[in-house]
Amino acid sequence: MRVAVVTGAAQGIGRRTTELLAGAGYTVALIDRQPCPEGASGADREELMGDITDEGFVERCVARVRERWGRVDVLVNNAGISFIAPAERVSADDFRRVLEVNLMAPFLLSRGFGTMMLDQRSGSIVNIASIAGVTGIGDRSAYNASKHGLVGLTRTLAAEWGGRGVRSNAVCPGWVKTEMDHVDQASSAYTDDDIIDRVPMARFATPDDIARAVLFLADPAQSGFVNGHTLVVDGGWTADGSWQSLRLKHR
Ligand SMILES: NC(=O)c1ccc[n+]([C@@H]2O[C@H](COP(=O)([O-])OP(=O)(O)OC[C@H]3O[C@@H](n4cnc5c(N)ncnc54)[C@H](O)[C@@H]3O)[C@@H](O)[C@H]2O)c1
Repeated sequence: MRVAVVTGAAQGIGRRTTELLAGAGYTVALIDRQPCPEGASGADREELMGDITDEGFVERCVARVRERWGRVDVLVNNAGISFIAPAERVSADDFRRVLEVNLMAPFLLSRGFGTMMLDQRSGSIVNIASIAGVTGIGDRSAYNASKHGLVGLTRTLAAEWGGRGVRSNAVCPGWVKTEMDHVDQASSAYTDDDIIDRVPMARFATPDDIARAVLFLADPAQSGFVNGHTLVVDGGWTADGSWQSLRLKHR
């Protein structure tokens, strides 16, 4: 039996990731602050509803997984929130909240489930960061800081735990068509064309594009010596230093 834990499993990237993990035979614990959609009938799964910034809730999740299955093979730190505002107008409370959800919570979850993995001397942690974790994007000071921090946490855990069989890697998506994008676009932050024009491959990522990268990093048979890596899944965005007209000339 292989057990996977996914945060933010109710929708978007997390939802697609749990579908693929279940399809690949993993038993899945789904963590979210909102109810998750019904899974495939008969699949061995458990839903744990709560806020991952609550340390007590995270500890209860770890205890529940230990009690029910006695092991954990994969932790996907996927839950996250977006926050768009000019830096000079971001309150300390808003900045703190983004760091709590996007960085502190993955630390708490990694500490809890990572301890189980260290006892087993095996496991894979996959953190969903963002291209905002490897490059600056305007109006996203808190979000970018949290995602850069998450990449830093990923590398540190890789260094600290790799010798005891626990790998830690990050996936950095470009813009993905999910509820998060829908909400951000509703606030007029950007349009579909802004993104499509910026990406060499001329499209948004799908949740499936990201989930497949997660499955690769989760499975030691496929990525057993990959540790501390930051895998961008962005259609070439961060590789492309072209100016806009040059990029569009090649369409
Ligand atoms: N959508 C994108 O364009 C994009 C791009 C790069 C990175 N990402 C990252 O991918 C991850 C998933 O994004 P998505 O687009 O699927 O987001 P989404 O908003 O569609 O889904 C996020 C899920 O996380 C849950 N969640 C949020 N805060 C929580 C909390 N405190 N406790 C428990 N659950 C919580 C939400 O309820 C929701 O179900 C996030 O970390 C996000 O930053 C998204």
